[in-house]
Formats: sequence, C-alpha cells, structure tokens
Amino acid sequence: MSGLLEKIVSIQNSALQAFNQAANSQDLEKARVEFLGTKGRLTELTRSVGTLPAEERPQAGQAANEALKTTKAAHQKALERIAETKSQKAALDVTLPGRRRPVGRQHLISRTMTEICEIFERLGFTVVEGPEVETDYYNFEALNFPADHPSRDMQETLFVGNKLLLRTHTSPVQIRTMEKRRPPVWIVAPGKTYRRDDDITHSPMFHQVEGLVVDKGITMADLKGILSAFATSFFSPDTAIRLRPSFFPFTEPSAEVDIACVLCGGRGCRLCKGSGWLELLGSGMVDPALYKFVGYDPREVSGFAFGLGVDRAAMLKYGLSNIRHLYEGDLRFLEQF
Ligand code: PHE
Repeated sequence: MSGLLEKIVSIQNSALQAFNQAANSQDLEKARVEFLGTKGRLTELTRSVGTLPAEERPQAGQAANEALKTTKAAHQKALERIAETKSQKAALDVTLPGRRRPVGRQHLISRTMTEICEIFERLGFTVVEGPEVETDYYNFEALNFPADHPSRDMQETLFVGNKLLLRTHTSPVQIRTMEKRRPPVWIVAPGKTYRRDDDITHSPMFHQVEGLVVDKGITMADLKGILSAFATSFFSPDTAIRLRPSFFPFTEPSAEVDIACVLCGGRGCRLCKGSGWLELLGSGMVDPALYKFVGYDPREVSGFAFGLGVDRAAMLKYGLSNIRHLYEGDLRFLEQF
C-alpha cells in the first residue's frame, strides 16, 4: 500500500516536471499522452486502484484522484504558458522594417532668409543681427524720425513699455552696426519684425532682411546694381527691376524697388493688377542726418540701404496667395518646400 502511494507521488512529480519543461505544444502533448492519456502512467495507476483489497481502496483512491487533479491543473497551466509565448512571438516580428522618425526640415521662411543672405554674402556682405525688442532711439530717433512726427504713423508700432517696442523694421540694426564699426560697412541683417497689421498679405510678425553699405564713393548706381544682381539671382536670370521715388526718413533720395511681375513677366495680369510690376522692397541713399548719430563724416563716405520683406519675397517666388500658409504649421503645405 505505502509502495503505491509513493509511486503516485513519484509519477505526479515526473508529470509536473515534464509539463513545466515542455517548450512547445508538441512536447506538451507528448507529455500529456505519457501521463494522462488513456494508456498514460497516471491513468493506469488510477485504474489499478480497483484491484486493491477493499480496505485499501479509499485511501489509495483519494491519493490517485488528487494526483490526477494536480497533474491536470499543471497541464492546463503549461498550455496557457505556451499559448502566451506564441502570441508574444507573433507580436514581435523582428523581420519587420523599423519605424523611422520623421526628419524635420527648415521652415520655408528660414530657408528663404538663408538664401537671401547667401546671395548678399557672395556680393561681399556680412551677416549681423540685432534685438527684436528695441528702444525708441534705435527704431525711430536715430533713424531721423523726430518724436511725434507723422512719419511714425506708417510704422503701426506695438509698444511693450516706456520707449520700448517690438522693432517695426530691421533698420535699427543700421544704427547699431554703424555705432560699432567704421566704414567700409557692407552688412545684411535678417530677422523678425512686428507691426499692427493683419490681412492676407500682412502678418503682425513678419521678416525682413536689412542691407547697409557705407563706403567711399557709393552712388545710387551701386544701389541699383546690387539690387538688380540680387533680383536676378533670387528670382530668375531675366528679372528686371525698376526704382520708383518714395519716402523714408532715413534715406534721401528714397526708392521703392519693384520687380517685373513673376507671373506675367511684365505684360500685366491679376497678380500685378495690370501694372506688370510687383513691389519688392524699400531703399535709398543713407540720409547724412544718420551719420551725425554715429559719428561718421558725410564728406568722406556715402551709402545706400534697403529693407526687403522676406515673407513677401517667398510669396512672390513660390506663388503663395495667403501669408497665413507660412504661419499655420500645416505639414501638407510646409512639406512641399
Ligand atoms: N525700413 C523700411 C521699412 O520697413 C524699409 C527700408 C529700409 C527703406 C532701408 C529704406 C532703407 O519700411
């Protein structure tokens, strides 16, 4: 009798070991047949309980039933374990291609600004920068806008404090540069500018590239030559420019520079409103009044300056109808450039 009980325990242990070690369903099924199949070792043993003398049957029967229960439970657990590793293997398919992180790119405005600066660098200019929060002095006064003068009205200024404002143009960098350097000065100054303007061609925050040349014997011919070289390089080799009289407090004479319409080439269309020309930038010969603020001698040097709208240049070059496309962050738009 005790021999049978020991046999039950030993077979049960072998069965549990076999089930725990089974690495796949085939191994497990083989072990199940060996122990729990119709002719399995545990099954036969259970059956043999019936051949025992009547007084030994209850104890042996109970032991055999418990061994059966434990072993079947272990088999069930092993089934679940194998099913789980199978599904994990399916979830991790190492042959699938990796997921790429999308690579970003420069925004169209940054690219246009870089492109503009590079053209001027090839023409001998260096790039400088100035602050976006400016003082009244640099944004207006030293640029020959007297306090309370109507010429300030055009500038739609956003003030942030007493005599402190968001620069309305990059022209203050002209003054900051001349204060620091002696002629010859050949600089471009890219950056953000701000005005209380908001419609399909104006955004309250926009971008300009300022240009300033102060050197010996600079004339309006230099202004026209440099800006014509820029226009043919930035737009297309046959882009014509024209100068139109204008007014800025810090240039004298002043000129608005137009380019031949990028759409119709000058014949007249909807984009240029029939005129054949598109306004590109403001420019002029540096007003000698500025030299007093920075200690240059107007008898020795002369110069020209210009201020180019980057957003506008990008819109003309790429045929954009609404400036907002540049600021909405819609990838369907941005990814085209
Ligand atoms: N600062 C002027 C503007 O934003 C443009 C300009 C720059 C004109 C330099 C002349 C010379 O309107």
